[in-house]
Amino acid sequence: MSARRPVVGGNFKCNGDFAFIKTHTEVLKTIPKNNVEVYVAPSAIHLKTLADNLKGTHIEVAAQNVYYEKPGAWTGELNVEMLLDCGLKTVIIGHSERRRIMGETNEQSAKKAARAISLGMTVAFCIGETLEERNAGKVDEVNFAQLEALRAVLKEADWKNVIIAYEPVWSIGTGVVASPEQAQEVHASIRKWLGEKVSKAVADATRIQYGGSVNAANCAALGKCPDIDGFLVGGASLKPEFVQIVTTLG
Ligand code: G3P
Repeated sequence: MSARRPVVGGNFKCNGDFAFIKTHTEVLKTIPKNNVEVYVAPSAIHLKTLADNLKGTHIEVAAQNVYYEKPGAWTGELNVEMLLDCGLKTVIIGHSERRRIMGETNEQSAKKAARAISLGMTVAFCIGETLEERNAGKVDEVNFAQLEALRAVLKEADWKNVIIAYEPVWSIGTGVVASPEQAQEVHASIRKWLGEKVSKAVADATRIQYGGSVNAANCAALGKCPDIDGFLVGGASLKPEFVQIVTTLG
């Protein structure tokens, strides 16, 4: 087991209503307080409600996205100051759905992360390749390009506020989870890249979550991999099994 503190995130994506937030709050409160860092990311409209519901617990509430500019004329966007005003400490950035569906570029994801970190937030920075890119042998090329955009805008000290979430696009929402061997291979490659491009200290300290069809049945095998420091969970985070996923790592 590494010295890195395990971290499990729950990405609710565009799901739930206030009735769900109310009932799911009670499920989340059953997560035992152990060595695992836990954050849950509801839709923006539910952030303040869930943050208030979980105030005083060990469960952090995170945003799923944030804009990269200071407050201003950016209709429809949320800025970092608003997340801080909700009492949030963590934000997911660069999720593949934002990159592949909403057209967010590597540079935009990096700018978002840099601004959030500059104001003291922790960023769960998502990277990952599509099946076509994997089949073309471009896994490292794609992931390293996404990481390079981030590296270009951070100082070494900023990396203490970064969690990397490796989420192979072909595994997200498909039920086709990466095998422990597949996930470990990419996580080790990411950590090697960090050591070569940033520093050994950052490579050793940076936590890398795996995301993509994680559930209570497959999380234990994945969690045994030396370079998998936790999970970013989608569908299963909306269910009581999210508690079991966290306790499996605890
Ligand atoms: O951010 C986590 C998400 O992309 C994974 O989704 O439903 O495959 O666990 P899911």
